[in-house]
Amino acid sequence: MTIPSTAQEIPSNIYKPGAPLEARVIDHYRLTAPDSPNDVCHIVYDVSASDLKYVEGQSIGVLPPGEDANGKPHKLRLYSIASPGVGDDGHGKTLTVCVKRAITVDEATGQEYHGVCSSYLCDLKVGDTSKLTGPVGKAFIMPDQPNANLIMVATGTGIAPFRAFLSKRYKQLQHETGQSWLFFGAQTRKDFLYEAELKAYQENAGCQVITAFSREEKNAQGNRMYVQHRLIEHGETLFELLKQPETYLYICGLRGMEAGILEGFQEIAQRQGIDWNVFFDTLKAEKRWHVEVY
Ligand code: FDA
Repeated sequence: MTIPSTAQEIPSNIYKPGAPLEARVIDHYRLTAPDSPNDVCHIVYDVSASDLKYVEGQSIGVLPPGEDANGKPHKLRLYSIASPGVGDDGHGKTLTVCVKRAITVDEATGQEYHGVCSSYLCDLKVGDTSKLTGPVGKAFIMPDQPNANLIMVATGTGIAPFRAFLSKRYKQLQHETGQSWLFFGAQTRKDFLYEAELKAYQENAGCQVITAFSREEKNAQGNRMYVQHRLIEHGETLFELLKQPETYLYICGLRGMEAGILEGFQEIAQRQGIDWNVFFDTLKAEKRWHVEVY
């Protein structure tokens, strides 16, 4: 079994909250369709004049300006890095994040609460600067193994690390032989983040891209279609892959999505006469089951 990377190779906390990196926004646009109720932004920072290094799967900290209700500086929030370690520019001079504006509506009063940091990030303009910290994260890292089969399951902005993985695999590395399976879930097609890029990987590089749009599609039971239903549809193939020691599964996105996926896998295992608990323990012990939900 190959461990993805050694801890020494993974950069960590190069910039700390006491001395953050001031990075300038060089690109900023909305990823969701203009008529989607969800606002998700693609933000590219120039990090060329810094010591920042990061690898695929890590997150960056953002210190939003201003103070909380107690007069203390706002705490940092984490965002998954959506660019490969070489940056979207290919020369290590940029860092990209993909941020959803967090809005909670109080059902009883109709009052809207806007998240502090996501609103700040989605309202940035090209030329503005942000205080960044990190990078952080040592577990949700892309395996350094050309024959690794990657099964990636994302909801919404959970696509960010997988955009980094796929960019590295298909734009940078030369001898990748492993399969890539990407499952992406959102409410509707209007929220299909990075659709053109992902379809290009599908058409030109053989990456499997499978979507589930819960408010537009129905599963076999006639209920909303979630990513776990798509996983079940491909269950036999995925289990054959997971039996191989070079297959790694990653889940990223909405808190709570893992439960549905676990149920889905349990169902597939039952169909195949496999003891899911034993199989799951093996995947975790071999560091082949990775989850980052928020
Ligand atoms: P804030 O912290 O201010 O509020 C949290 C929530 O509470 C919001 O939904 C807000 O609407 C609601 N709220 C505020 N006040 C309220 C009140 N009085 N009553 C009821 N509700 C209220 N996000 C993302 O968009 N892209 C990403 O790639 C990632 N990646 C990521 C990786 C990791 C490892 C973690 C731990 C987290 C992420 N996140 C993320 C989530 C991100 O860190 C952050 O949690 C969200 O952007 C929300 O932060 P805000 O500061 O905007 O909301």
